[in-house]
Amino acid sequence: MFAFMGWFFLEGRSIEMLTVVKADITTLQVDAIVNAANNSLLGGGGVDGAIHRGAGPDLLKECRNLGGCPTGDARITKGYRLPAKYVIHTVGPVWDGGGRGEAELLASCYRRSLELASGAGVKSIAFPSISTGVYGYPVEQAAKIAVSTVRKELEKYPGIEEVIFCCFSDRDKEMYEKLLA
Ligand code: APR
Repeated sequence: MFAFMGWFFLEGRSIEMLTVVKADITTLQVDAIVNAANNSLLGGGGVDGAIHRGAGPDLLKECRNLGGCPTGDARITKGYRLPAKYVIHTVGPVWDGGGRGEAELLASCYRRSLELASGAGVKSIAFPSISTGVYGYPVEQAAKIAVSTVRKELEKYPGIEEVIFCCFSDRDKEMYEKLLA
């Protein structure tokens, strides 16, 4: 797996590492992986299905007690059978043409996920391309929001040392690499 490493000096920060990989996020050896969930938090297809399969039934048991999650917000659980210690479930917006606050809701997913990760002492975190599958968000626009929001937010969280954008296709990976170059 060839990882594209982008090292960035953020004002007043040590080196920050933003990486792009093409992989199944459930295999990544990081402290936390982010799940592109739905409002029920009770599982689904896509990356949500893969994460629940990888974590095992105890993840669903924990999710059942969370009472769902509003769009743009996030919740943190254990990772159970996954290599990751935590799963951060965030609910992206369904793309509806761009005029219903989708960009702000998507940015909020990245902000809230990093906030919860920081609070849990997470040092390394991997994001899938939130909302760009079933929820239909155009990948180019979504990737721009992901990279710009993560770059900006990381200045608040010195404890988070590595962020991986985990793509599931070569096309998405190239998109993110262009943005990080
Ligand atoms: N690892 C990494 N990325 C993955 C994986 C995986 N194992 N499986 C899918 N992806 C990618 C998809 O290719 C897409 O680029 O994750 C991105 C997000 O796609 P979805 O999983 O469809 O998520 P989203 O578009 O946010 O839709 C969420 O789908 O699965 C349901 O319950 C979920 O209702 C919710 C909706």
